[in-house]
Amino acid sequence: MPARESLGRSTAVLEPLLIALNAPGRNKHIVPDPFKPCIPDELTPFLNPDEVELPDVAEVETVRHFTRLSRLNFGVDQGMYPLGSCTMKYNPKICENIAERIRNIHSSDKHPMHMVLRALAALQRYLEEICGMDACCLWPAAGAHGELTGMLIIKKAIKTRGEDRSVVLIPDTAHGTNPASCAIAGFTTRNIPSGPKGYLEAATVKDHLDKDVAALMITNPNTLGIFEQEIGAIAELLHANGSYLYMDGANLNAILGVSRPGDMGVDCLHVNLHKTFGTPHGGGGPGGGPVLVQSELERFLPIPRIVHVPRELFTLSYRFPDSIGMVHSTLGNVSVLLKAIVYIIRLGPKGLLEASRAAVLNANYLKARLKDHFDLPYDTPTLHEFVLTDKRQKDNGISTMDMAKALMDFGFHPPTVYFPLVVGGAMMIEPTETEPLSELDRFADAMISIAQAAVDDPHTLHGKPEFTPVSRVDEVNAARNLCLTWDMLESNKRKAVSK
Ligand SMILES: Cc1ncc(COP(=O)(O)O)c(C=O)c1O
Repeated sequence: MPARESLGRSTAVLEPLLIALNAPGRNKHIVPDPFKPCIPDELTPFLNPDEVELPDVAEVETVRHFTRLSRLNFGVDQGMYPLGSCTMKYNPKICENIAERIRNIHSSDKHPMHMVLRALAALQRYLEEICGMDACCLWPAAGAHGELTGMLIIKKAIKTRGEDRSVVLIPDTAHGTNPASCAIAGFTTRNIPSGPKGYLEAATVKDHLDKDVAALMITNPNTLGIFEQEIGAIAELLHANGSYLYMDGANLNAILGVSRPGDMGVDCLHVNLHKTFGTPHGGGGPGGGPVLVQSELERFLPIPRIVHVPRELFTLSYRFPDSIGMVHSTLGNVSVLLKAIVYIIRLGPKGLLEASRAAVLNANYLKARLKDHFDLPYDTPTLHEFVLTDKRQKDNGISTMDMAKALMDFGFHPPTVYFPLVVGGAMMIEPTETEPLSELDRFADAMISIAQAAVDDPHTLHGKPEFTPVSRVDEVNAARNLCLTWDMLESNKRKAVSK
């Protein structure tokens, strides 16, 4: 039984690594001999722990190990998770349930694939309508994957025009994945500054346009939570220059049913199903980053495409010679796609609009409660998230990191910290629409009491958190002595002993 150690008010189980539970012989009889022929060849080495370097641990111990670990974790099902830019909202379990059922359609069904494709075709139509775009590809597996797909589409479109443009403009308030995706697609990126109000000004774009500019990639609403107010004028400038407007639509949660990228002049965008439509974000789980385009770019969309054969069924077609090719195995992360369709149908147009409105209202409520206690770097109206800084608390030696750690003792996941980079000591707060007023108030009260502690008793904040299973870690040491595997852990221990 792992040791119990008292940590402040809570009692935490310090869970050893699974390999430390290794006890030769424990895992001997997972599959009785008569059933072994039923195990696929590629899995047979796992029946004998000696053949693969796996710890010898009984099934029951393994299950208990992971169950204990899961209890040390923090998730949306436990409390508020206001991680800005990540939209960590509660996702209805019915989406999981129905998606699971569709996925498990029995193979004896007459046309199971047709049914799934029909649902996916409907999802494409809904996303086109919600975004005001002409065509959609559902297959990219995440937001960054959508960005890459979109940029490959733009690259091919430019090449097809017989041009060779190599630059993508990226505002300083863009999401961090944006420049990386452009670089992987073979573009060079040029960073351009936002204006003093936190949004990109058309005049700045104009100054940076030349015949080498393939596109501008803009996150809207941007990472300050601010709507890009000059996006219409920016689109016109780009189009007059023969350049495309790519929108990172991962923050769609803020504008559902209110405004549509297509109406803003956007040529290509991706959306994050795992932020907006029924799948949680994070944890490395499967995501969905569908890409939407205007008709001019449609022929470059990835294959296969879902087509409807007249008087017949939905099917997949690979006959699109101008396509950029495949970006994922067939049907993408289909469970994420199915959850999205369930979410959209369940909420309907009114419900989606309500969700966005509530997300914006919740964020603005929190901002109003907190702005007298923290520095608010931009006073421009914000949508679903907002950014505070540690400027006021810095005089007392308290940083954003101290305050984020202190929040954990109140039972909250901290907000996103030190991002966006345009703001020093940023705390980026996104409560989402699924938090009730009581929880928003509890969060605001916690933040205000931390701001008060920074004045009255600042040194207590340096030791936070006190009541979590793991307290403040030594981040400098962790960065200098990276310890990512069991071997590294053991050799670090040996080094420590020999000193
Ligand atoms: C604005 C924005 N763009 C892009 C991404 C990247 O999405 P993903 O993590 O699915 O690759 C995120 C992720 O949170 C985001 O918030």
